[in-house]
Amino acid sequence: MDLKKAALALRSIGLPAAARTAWYAFIKDQRNRFYAARRRTGKPVPPGALQEASPVSSGARFRFAQAELEAIFLAQDLVRLSWSPGTAPAPYALARQEWPPVETQLSQKDEEYILSSQNLEIVISQNGSLLFRQPGGDPLRSELPPERQERKLNHTSRDNAGMAAWVHNAHMQAEECIYGLGERAAPINRRGGAYRMWNSDPGGSYDPGKDPLYLCIPAYLSLHRGGSCLVFYENSYPASFDFRSAEKNSPSAQCSTVIFEGGMLRYYFMAGAPDQLLERYTELTGRPSMPPRWALGYHQSRWGYKTEADVRRIAAGFKEHEMPLSAIHLDIDYMDGYRVFTINQQNFPDLLGLSKDLAEQGVRLVAIVDPGVKVDTEYSVYQEGRKDGYFCNLPGGKLSLGPAWPGWSAFPDFTDPFARHWWGEQYRKLLDLGIAGFWHDMNEPAALAAWGDMTLPMATQHKLEGCPGDHQQAHNLYGLLMNRASYEGLRLLNPEQRPWIFTRSGWAGVQRYAWNWTGDTNTSWPSLRQTIPTLLGLGLSGLPFSGPDIGGFSGDPSAELYLRWFELSAFLPLFRTHSATGLADREPWVYGEPVTSIAREYLRLRYRLMPFFYSLAWEACQSGCPLVRPLFWLNPAEPSLWKVDDSFLLGDAMLVAPVLEESITTRVVRLPGAGQPPQSDPLNWYDLWTSKLVEENGDIVVSTPPERTPVFVRAGAIIPMESGRQLALHVYAPVGDMTETTALRLYSDAGDGFGDWRLDTYRLSAKEGALEIIRQSRGNYPFPYNRVTIFLHGASPALAVVDGKGMGLKGRRLELENFERIVFIPPGSQTLSDILPQEN
Ligand code: GLC
Repeated sequence: MDLKKAALALRSIGLPAAARTAWYAFIKDQRNRFYAARRRTGKPVPPGALQEASPVSSGARFRFAQAELEAIFLAQDLVRLSWSPGTAPAPYALARQEWPPVETQLSQKDEEYILSSQNLEIVISQNGSLLFRQPGGDPLRSELPPERQERKLNHTSRDNAGMAAWVHNAHMQAEECIYGLGERAAPINRRGGAYRMWNSDPGGSYDPGKDPLYLCIPAYLSLHRGGSCLVFYENSYPASFDFRSAEKNSPSAQCSTVIFEGGMLRYYFMAGAPDQLLERYTELTGRPSMPPRWALGYHQSRWGYKTEADVRRIAAGFKEHEMPLSAIHLDIDYMDGYRVFTINQQNFPDLLGLSKDLAEQGVRLVAIVDPGVKVDTEYSVYQEGRKDGYFCNLPGGKLSLGPAWPGWSAFPDFTDPFARHWWGEQYRKLLDLGIAGFWHDMNEPAALAAWGDMTLPMATQHKLEGCPGDHQQAHNLYGLLMNRASYEGLRLLNPEQRPWIFTRSGWAGVQRYAWNWTGDTNTSWPSLRQTIPTLLGLGLSGLPFSGPDIGGFSGDPSAELYLRWFELSAFLPLFRTHSATGLADREPWVYGEPVTSIAREYLRLRYRLMPFFYSLAWEACQSGCPLVRPLFWLNPAEPSLWKVDDSFLLGDAMLVAPVLEESITTRVVRLPGAGQPPQSDPLNWYDLWTSKLVEENGDIVVSTPPERTPVFVRAGAIIPMESGRQLALHVYAPVGDMTETTALRLYSDAGDGFGDWRLDTYRLSAKEGALEIIRQSRGNYPFPYNRVTIFLHGASPALAVVDGKGMGLKGRRLELENFERIVFIPPGSQTLSDILPQEN
């Protein structure tokens, strides 16, 4: 820990608590040493020779001399592989376990077996190496035989099967890129790095390069010239994923190495384009349900809003500065001595009154909830949890305690369904006080240790749905299951409203329950830049909703750094300012002009873009495709886009290229499509701010005055914006002719609850300068706007034909109540019938 970090830690927790963290680190080390000493590790064992292959429903089983492989197709392009021995995982990650049978064939050719579905072939060789390809296609992935290292407990007769460690090597192709692995402070392409799977609080704050962080996911997407595939290891044990050897070794020996410290080697392989992979992966591990609409607005937070008066002052500040606001967050200070599910009555004497007053202004309260429960025999949550055995124990039955904000704390065992149910019920207290959202922190779980691993001792016992295990197995699941407990509790307690939770930790499948934020980032320009690859990686790991602390957690950002971070975040799913305790105020007006006015403009733009964000959120909930996407999404076959991580796509219509360096007045932006070999459907872009079509090719240089984050809109897209009950449809004309394409799917509903919805799909086509827009709607929710204005960018028609009737334009603008079909006719065109598609 460096001095800066030590100072931050002391400021955060004070001296007596610091002493406790030292004592805890000492005893935890002792415990872990004793626990580890009980193990011995055997020699690596390969599967040995293949002895028998037999078809089973949807797949096949292969018996090797020293291991067994079962390969079951769950869909044509999705197969589950399980190498045993080793304990099978509890299916916490999975949203779907029943799959219809898939027709498969097992054939033998020379020494090899081929197991195939219609879309995928696996070649299984005599020694256990596997090759995956699409029928007749290039190899997508080629694996070496996995090796197993037995780890025996020295003195118990307990089944040791779970203690096998697995080493899994796969060849890597020359230009292969690797994405995902959850939250990583690494470049978007994870190749060249080594990553640990062990959810960790870095303590204090973190910089780019820090690994691991709070939310690890053992899944990665690989992209190379032969195609793309995704591998998800369903194994919660600590693991390492090493993609470095590929850089050191000769091309023939380029391998990635994955090591799991226990459990069965179970993984899912899926093949397809990146969007199909995300769809499949989230079919398997689940998708979020629709968030309440307010969650996509702006959130103001800091560690240090200590009283009701503070909160009212902040809300009033937003009003006074005419800045829209959706939520204020209450950090740990709202609690009574940091006891979770209690209120500090002195500082918040009327929390219900406060939440009601704020709700009238459209502002929600979000409260932090930590898993550590203060050891205090007078405190009901502790009493209940203790009495009913909901907390984690050490072997021998003593509570596994660790220091958290309230001092010594017990930790609920969320792998116990009864504990989950009990925890879910606790939220009633906060719901009754009008708390609308929940902020789950410290759920790695973090126990404050002055050095070493900031978590519970490895010997800590977990119920794991009736197949007990230790903290090695359960640690990575802890955040996932805390979120599950709360989500399920909130659904029961408040069935008419959508739960809104955001979390620091999680594991595969956590997207079903919660959004995420990137934790305690350092306040620095490199951390601002890191936001993009971190969010892109989360999105490619199945988490579509996330965002950073604007300005960084740890320090006081300069006005310029704050503003650039704010501008970037206006285009991210979670748009929230937050900071550590003891720092200067950080509301968007504290820097004075011009920051205040620019921040206000971005806030207003964000709220105008609400239908765009809401529709993207709906899409993410339908398909698992993230809101924030890498540039290669639009053209995965183009290698020059594979490593771009200083800009991102928002949906498939907008490209955001934020300012990521201090004092720069220009930046380079790579626009997909521009300057590349002609494609069937070339991509063209408009500058959002000037509406000008970008004429240059390749990397372009754009100017970046303080008020401008470069943003581009794809030609052929429609961007919806709203102002009250008025909808603006910004139509960005395609360059040249374009066959009918979906330009916008606009989703609307009441913004919360589970009632009616509607989807308006706008299809756009262009022919000889004429533009046609067709709207089709589904669903029962009434159209929420009473006025629609169409703004044309890149086209100046002479006339519009709206549902068969001619209408005049005001410049490039057309105002209507609504429409089903519009044709814009260019000046000087011949007859209408030449241009309009034939009516039936
Ligand atoms: C952790 C969180 C941070 C929060 C603080 C106090 O450091 O990551 O966001 O402000 O705890 O609750």
